[in-house]
Amino acid sequence: MKILITYSSKTRNTEKVAKAIFEGIPSADFLPISEVENLDYDLIIIGGWIDRATFDSNTLAFSKNIIKKNVAYFFTLGAYPNSDHALDCVKNIDTLLGENENTITGRYFCQGAIDPKLISWLSTLPSDHKMSPSEERKQRWEDAKSHPNSEDLERAKEFAISLL
Ligand SMILES: Cc1cc2nc3c(=O)[nH]c(=O)nc-3n(C[C@H](O)[C@H](O)[C@H](O)COP(=O)(O)O)c2cc1C
Repeated sequence: MKILITYSSKTRNTEKVAKAIFEGIPSADFLPISEVENLDYDLIIIGGWIDRATFDSNTLAFSKNIIKKNVAYFFTLGAYPNSDHALDCVKNIDTLLGENENTITGRYFCQGAIDPKLISWLSTLPSDHKMSPSEERKQRWEDAKSHPNSEDLERAKEFAISLL
């Protein structure tokens, strides 16, 4: 079976998960999205980071070109993986990949540390702004800092093996 593992990552969280997935399927082709030249694969495992409750723009654009394929996907996000927001992300990505008659064979996601530059910017927002950092949000940022951790990466590898 010809397998592609491909990903987009800005601050390397998703790249770490992608590498763990590759450890689970070392026979796969492993490439950042920007280097993929064709989609001639039996299974495409695609990963991105979450931006506004869906894949980041690179992964989003790439996904739209995947048609009638077996696809598994993974992502990292700032929110907790057991949150409603994470479920919304899953729904949005399922819809995105489902639109082109792809068959989704698996999903994996975990928290990823949030870019400190984004945190600095959010911290400057006035307290009545809807994105201003509440205590709950600050706690989530703090919790995200250590992710993806070794457990997340081990589970990513197991996820990869389960796809075979
Ligand atoms: C511009 C921007 C938008 C983001 N939007 C969301 C979001 O809507 N939901 C979320 O849970 N995390 C969001 N995040 C957090 C990232 O998805 C998370 O930190 C991810 O692990 C980054 O992955 P990377 O290191 O591979 O780039 C956002 C981060 C940035 C920089």
